[in-house]
Amino acid sequence: MNDPHIGRVVVDQEELQQRVAELGKEITSDYSGRPPLLVGVLKGAFMFMSDLARAVDLPVEFDFMAVSSYGSATRTSGVVRILKDLDLDLTDRHVLIVEDIVDSGLTLAYLRRNLAARHPASLEVCALLLKDGLQRVDPDLRYVGFRIPPTFVIGYGLDVAERYRNLPYVAEYRGPLPQA
Ligand code: IMP
Ligand code: MG
Repeated sequence: MNDPHIGRVVVDQEELQQRVAELGKEITSDYSGRPPLLVGVLKGAFMFMSDLARAVDLPVEFDFMAVSSYGSATRTSGVVRILKDLDLDLTDRHVLIVEDIVDSGLTLAYLRRNLAARHPASLEVCALLLKDGLQRVDPDLRYVGFRIPPTFVIGYGLDVAERYRNLPYVAEYRGPLPQA
């Protein structure tokens, strides 16, 4: 895409593909005999979840949740609202939360607390991206795709005002961020 707002590529298509395959193998071996329920956090995680699931050689099940964080466009406040809840009951399930990116970690901390209260057999997190040094809470991630510098990124599910999610790589965003 010829767009001046698309900056330096942070993770290219090949790196994504390779790392997702590795994560899939790890999950396949870690969850052998206790297939996970993958819980995708919409919308950002949809592309990662789709690729990751195909790299897991187990009878996984899927569910999705949509949340919105209150705060500015680039900073979350930790106050999270559930826009779409899960369809499935988590009781005694091996739940693996699939997230696009962990920045402050506040969204994930909320999700973890919320899902843990539903009595899953286990609860772990797989995040594609972890921004270095910005966590205000210990994110406690079982699987991390890439650690990246703390800049705003787009692509592979990540957006600015709903755009750029379909870029097949992760790039820095160079442009004005909408104020929420
Ligand atoms: P946290 O609560 O600060 O960890 O923010 C996590 C959420 O903010 C993610 O699930 C994303 O939806 C969004 N987010 C954080 N950083 C970025 C970014 O660099 N690009 C796009 N979305 C982001
Ligand atoms: Mg998100």
